[in-house]
Amino acid sequence: MTAHQPSLDAYWMPFTDNRSFKAHPRLIAKAHGMHYETDDGRRLLDASAGLWCVNLGHGRPEIAAAVGEQLRTLDYAAAFQMGHPMAFELAQRLTQHTPGDLNRVFFTNSGSESVDTALKIALAYHRMRGEGQRVRFIGREKGYHGVGFGGMSVGGIAGNRKFFGPGLPGVDHLPHTLNLQHNAFHRGEAPWGAHLADVLEDLIALHDASTIAAVIVEPVAGSAGVIPPPQGYLRRLRDICDAYDILLIFDEVITGFGRLGQPFASQRFAVIPDMITAAKGITNGAIPMGAVFIRQGIHDAIMDVKGPGIELLHGYTYSGHPAACAAALAALDLYEKESLFTRVRELEPHWQNAVHALQGAPHVRDIRSIGLMAAIDLEPMAGKPGSRGFEAYLRCYAKGLAMRSTGDILAFSPPLIVSPEQIDAIFATVNEVLHELP
Ligand SMILES: Cc1ncc(COP(=O)(O)O)c(C=O)c1O
Repeated sequence: MTAHQPSLDAYWMPFTDNRSFKAHPRLIAKAHGMHYETDDGRRLLDASAGLWCVNLGHGRPEIAAAVGEQLRTLDYAAAFQMGHPMAFELAQRLTQHTPGDLNRVFFTNSGSESVDTALKIALAYHRMRGEGQRVRFIGREKGYHGVGFGGMSVGGIAGNRKFFGPGLPGVDHLPHTLNLQHNAFHRGEAPWGAHLADVLEDLIALHDASTIAAVIVEPVAGSAGVIPPPQGYLRRLRDICDAYDILLIFDEVITGFGRLGQPFASQRFAVIPDMITAAKGITNGAIPMGAVFIRQGIHDAIMDVKGPGIELLHGYTYSGHPAACAAALAALDLYEKESLFTRVRELEPHWQNAVHALQGAPHVRDIRSIGLMAAIDLEPMAGKPGSRGFEAYLRCYAKGLAMRSTGDILAFSPPLIVSPEQIDAIFATVNEVLHELP
């Protein structure tokens, strides 16, 4: 460690193996376009768009300029009982890209806050329609909805839950849809598993529809290792929710903002939920921000409160922060100008061919891909789950490739500006690493 580098002791890193990181740090100094630069001057191709968020590529000068200008003009305005024009402009602009009548927007600062906000809006909505007994939520196994107590409770990744108590009461889970026996190496939506949505009928029979506020799922499970939905599955969930007045929430924190070749996964799968939670790509990762997109009828029901006063007692000091709004508006200009909400449609065949060419490489037991997302699922090492995946991550990093490993699954989600040659470079490096792995 050189003299000017700080001690690594004080910073407790999130979702990181702190002990091994601090023994062998991986510090990033700069980023531009498709690349990071490490503190010792090495270039890394970013095959993860940061954490699924830098959809426009790193270091976009338009975003930096807009944020700088905004901070010099208005750094902050109280978010409660006051506003600033940019928040309204951003909300209005965003709703030009949302599906159906999801034309009301609540701003948050992260995906976790978006999820907790959506769950609270679901409760408030039912209460306003005289159904305040609808307090249960249904999530799904392998779901990731952030780390707040609401998101953790509806989430379905055991490791993220087991240390932190029982979570929200009254939460139940649908089964996950990952099935290697039926769906291994399939491209896009999985052919098998639509019937798993019918388990919602069983949960309704068990708890009674009158107690259930909302179902929340990621249209494509991301953090658990890119699990595309079975064909027809999301439509069935929608139909069942409709039949019982249960709200359907799509958590699009990853799938929103062009990752599947449409502004939102909802448009790709032609299924319109009642709320969409978003974050990440909304500002291209440059400034923290999240949003919940809400059907107008849900918003209007809550506005229908009798008498004057605040209708929804919920919000964050930094809801609609001026710098975040400036970043999001500049990002939106770029998404629109460079047609990045739809570019993935053109890239997807090349992307799929490149990743699926690794079928048959050592240790590979499944490859899943949809939009500009892909996962290579590796056979775990006997008695050491996760270690083969992490070893692959470290070896890719050493060879100049940044990607994600989650357990023994390697996950890929590059910025939407990636070139076909860079896609080939990503999987050439992965192929090399697979051949070297123990
Ligand atoms: C689907 C989904 N929901 C929620 C979150 C939480 O977002 P954040 O880390 O911004 O709180 C994530 C983060 O990866 C996510 O993938």
